[in-house]
Amino acid sequence: MSRKLFVTTALPYANAPFHIGHMMEYIQADIWVRFQRMGGAEVNFVCADDAHGAPIMIAAEAAGQTPQEFVAGIAGGRQQYLDGFSISFDNWHSTDSQENTELAQSIYTALKDAGFIDVRSVEQFFDPVKSMFLPDRYIKGTCPRCGTPDQYGDSCENCGAVYAPTDLKDPYSALSGATPELRSSEHFFFRLSDPRCVEFLQSWTQDGKLQPEVANKVREWFVTDPDGSGGLTDWDISRDAPYFGIEIPGAPGKYFYVWLDAPIGYLASLVNLFGKQGRDVQAFLADPEVEQIHFIGKDIIYFHTLFWPAMLHFSGRKIPNNVFVHGFLTVSEEKMSKSRGTGIKPLRYLELGLNPDWLRYYLAAKLNAHVEDVDFTAEDFVTRVNADLVGKYVNIASRVSGFLAKRFDGRLSAELGADGEALIAALQARVPVVAELYETREFGKAVREIMALADQVNGYIESHKPWELAKVDGAEAQLHAACSTGIEAFRILSVLLTPIMPRTAAAVADFLQVAPFTWGDANTRLGEHSIGRYQHLMARVETEVVEQLFEAPPIAIEPEPVPEPGGEPVAEEISIEQFAAVDLRVARIVSAETVDGSTKLLRLVLDVGEPQPRTVFSGIAAIYSPSDLVGRMTVMVANLAPRKMRFGTSEGMVLAAAHADTATEPGIFLLEADSGATAGMRVR
Ligand code: 2FM
Ligand code: ZN
Repeated sequence: MSRKLFVTTALPYANAPFHIGHMMEYIQADIWVRFQRMGGAEVNFVCADDAHGAPIMIAAEAAGQTPQEFVAGIAGGRQQYLDGFSISFDNWHSTDSQENTELAQSIYTALKDAGFIDVRSVEQFFDPVKSMFLPDRYIKGTCPRCGTPDQYGDSCENCGAVYAPTDLKDPYSALSGATPELRSSEHFFFRLSDPRCVEFLQSWTQDGKLQPEVANKVREWFVTDPDGSGGLTDWDISRDAPYFGIEIPGAPGKYFYVWLDAPIGYLASLVNLFGKQGRDVQAFLADPEVEQIHFIGKDIIYFHTLFWPAMLHFSGRKIPNNVFVHGFLTVSEEKMSKSRGTGIKPLRYLELGLNPDWLRYYLAAKLNAHVEDVDFTAEDFVTRVNADLVGKYVNIASRVSGFLAKRFDGRLSAELGADGEALIAALQARVPVVAELYETREFGKAVREIMALADQVNGYIESHKPWELAKVDGAEAQLHAACSTGIEAFRILSVLLTPIMPRTAAAVADFLQVAPFTWGDANTRLGEHSIGRYQHLMARVETEVVEQLFEAPPIAIEPEPVPEPGGEPVAEEISIEQFAAVDLRVARIVSAETVDGSTKLLRLVLDVGEPQPRTVFSGIAAIYSPSDLVGRMTVMVANLAPRKMRFGTSEGMVLAAAHADTATEPGIFLLEADSGATAGMRVR
């Protein structure tokens, strides 16, 4: 009976492109998934964009876009990374979707009906200018302990004090600069402290399925201090409008906090996948044999081992079978920032022509089943790839395939001789060991086991010396046996490496003229079989290229800070052709008006010498009033793709100057053409 799996990786926030830490998680999960598929399992491997929440709403506004447009822009960039690193998701969806809305609302309603939702009044800072409650990270002020100004609402970067935003001295809104007011509003809470919940989670987290270090960590969260504090506390799952999220049924103006609907996005993506395939997702999830597995990083254990199983269980749904937690990726021992990642950019890796299988192999070699951080260093990467993959593995094929082509027309012999038989038997005896290591996510050990087998194969070739046999008359059969053994062994190693190196494995299957590998192929033989011409399967990695992966190396002596013009460095050089691609035209402002629902935007109607005027939305409302603008001659980008916004379509962009940091150097200054210029003239 083959396994049925529902596997996910954590949903990335849709506020930035992937960083190398995302790729590590996806590669880890993908290796496991590919191993399962090779063994005949049915795997549904899904992910989605985590689209909701205040930070994305605010970032979208700053970009002059609706949150939906903003998220779509990020989502549109995902596939090149996934294809580039051979991540075999069956589906990619979004938490900002119909499926997720329905699921979140139905899970919430079930929890409410079962008595797990409380309503309580909460006092919070409110920004009177933005008319919104402020998330902690958008409140700044002076540290109540050490007096350092401009600290975030939850902790002080100077003295490390942890406090509530209401403890800050002279608090201000990081969004508008206004002094926030304390206001209270009703919030909805999920009752994690309910004894039913505590009992269920004690058993779900402590029954031996979780990694021991994860189970230990979680155990601490249950402990109540003698003063009654600690233990599982109720979770605030609502946010007030304006919020980019899913509306809470029966509570106008209230939205689910992003972390409530984020994991539900796992189910939404599965539902979406089954919808496309015309399959019955309810039946699949009702099947007790289906295993639901979530790969996550160590920073989001709380959400995945407490809230998520409890939400599912008490809404009467299937609960996860396991959560596989990994550590962080550091680069040259440097910690990665959640939003900025590290110095290594995944797309840069691909642009440099580095083989994605190298990174997959390197990470696999360093991964285990524990919550340990993994460090990437350039030297280590180069050594592993060149010594193991090129020096040990690919070398086997390149040492024997020439003779097979030249002397035996590419035909393998089924007669391997006693040594050959012994070698193949020795390799095949280790197949179950490697399988178990994949199953238990001990990829580093699997890699070491496979490389030890490659050493044995190279030892066999050393001792049989096909290059000498080739010169000896009458040694034809021995030469044929030695080379055929080499290829049989190479194929077995390739099968074992397939979950880690899918591209290389596909090239090998092609070369050997066999079907894509399944796990069972590791236990078979090619026998009498014709193979193709050996193609160079993998090159050595060049240190100089790997070094280009890193951003400018750190300079040992702290340089004098150079003031940057306008608060930002001058952008990368472009060619005159690139500049000419931007069509700038003189535009006459025919009319200007404020936009209902936006404090930032003005709607401008522009004459650019065309039969029809253009409508352009411009984020200058804070500085210019409409009457200041009418009749002015400005400059616009006339060939910018029209952009759909919440208020209508913007057909271009007017040019204005601003300092990079408008908080310290305020002002936006519209460009103006000198007198005499007429509408439609090109600016070059
Ligand atoms: O920490 C994060 O990046 C979250 N976006 C992960 C969400 S995982 C799941 F719950 F959706
Ligand atoms: Zn402080």
